[in-house]
Amino acid sequence: EDVLTTLKLLIIGESGVGKSSLLLRFTDDTFDEEQSATIGVDFKVKTLSIEGNKAKLAIWDTAGQERFRTLTPSYYRGAQGVILVYDVTRRDSFTKLENWLNELETYTTRNDIVKMLVGNKIDKPDREVDRNEGLKFARKHSMLFIEASAKTKDGVQCAFEELVEKILQT
Ligand code: GTP
Ligand code: MG
Repeated sequence: EDVLTTLKLLIIGESGVGKSSLLLRFTDDTFDEEQSATIGVDFKVKTLSIEGNKAKLAIWDTAGQERFRTLTPSYYRGAQGVILVYDVTRRDSFTKLENWLNELETYTTRNDIVKMLVGNKIDKPDREVDRNEGLKFARKHSMLFIEASAKTKDGVQCAFEELVEKILQT
């Protein structure tokens, strides 16, 4: 019999790395080449069935741009999982990951929050961050890791499913 669990998930990372695109690919199976920057916070709900469990996911997608960000503490409050995104074609978005982890630590009270690192835009040819670098960073910070493309769908479903599976195990 299915048990319905509600989970709060967050998506964070620099502006333009594809947070909203990953979310919209996952929830609506759409992709927009001209996806506009998020202002404030967006929110989507999706139900996922995993191993006889039904999880209702409440997914929060915040603006990467500081000037569009509001209500940061309430954004983080009560989250069980976080997806931290960088763009494999932008070294700076990878370098800034440490800042995002610091912010996460500042605003979350629970230390059992499950973290998934996603290297997005692997469909693009001009890569600046190797898969191994992503993997190494993820291991160092006890995060799950996956490379993905919101454009081609590669790894997107997997990223959310693995995160939820891990949360349900803990
Ligand atoms: P903010 O809301 O400003 O924080 O940005 P974001 O992280 O939500 O990025 P967004 O999803 O708006 O994507 C930024 C741009 O990158 C858009 O033009 C997207 O179409 C594009 N994009 C996102 N994901 C991919 C991808 O996997 N491949 C390619 N080629 N482009 C992508
Ligand atoms: Mg966005």
